[in-house]
Amino acid sequence: MPTSSPLHPAFGPSSPAVLASRLAREGDWCAMVEHVPGERRFSRIDVDGAEAWVISWAPGTGLGLHDHGGAAGALVVVQGSLVEQWRTRRAPENLRTNWLTTGSVVAFDGDHVHEVTNRDTQPAVSIHVYAPSLERMTFFADDPRDDHEVRYSPARVG
Ligand SMILES: [Fe+2]
Repeated sequence: MPTSSPLHPAFGPSSPAVLASRLAREGDWCAMVEHVPGERRFSRIDVDGAEAWVISWAPGTGLGLHDHGGAAGALVVVQGSLVEQWRTRRAPENLRTNWLTTGSVVAFDGDHVHEVTNRDTQPAVSIHVYAPSLERMTFFADDPRDDHEVRYSPARVG
């Protein structure tokens, strides 16, 4: 289940949400931002025990409906705003929307399926953490019965 800030008390000190929030506070991501018109750019953050990325979203960019291969994860918006549409693998008909602004935190378990887009006119930046590291992702068409699996690649991270 995704949650918005403040962090759910059940998250332990090493959970993806806690790590993503710490990375957001530390600010190293500022030097990794790449705003390129019409593109979504990403840089890996070197952290122990998890996989973390800074993603720069130009207006109108996004990543279609996907899961994270069973990994849990979290994202924190550190600049601008993003829209997350999400559901679970168990209930594909129940698509919900999170309107995320700077400071919003979303944490999710391995059942989470989402699409993230920048619908604003300004660029956005988010920090994403996955645990365990991403090994594969499945991308879904609008029809939940029509899905295809891709091996994880940095081109798809999100
Ligand atoms: Fe994702």
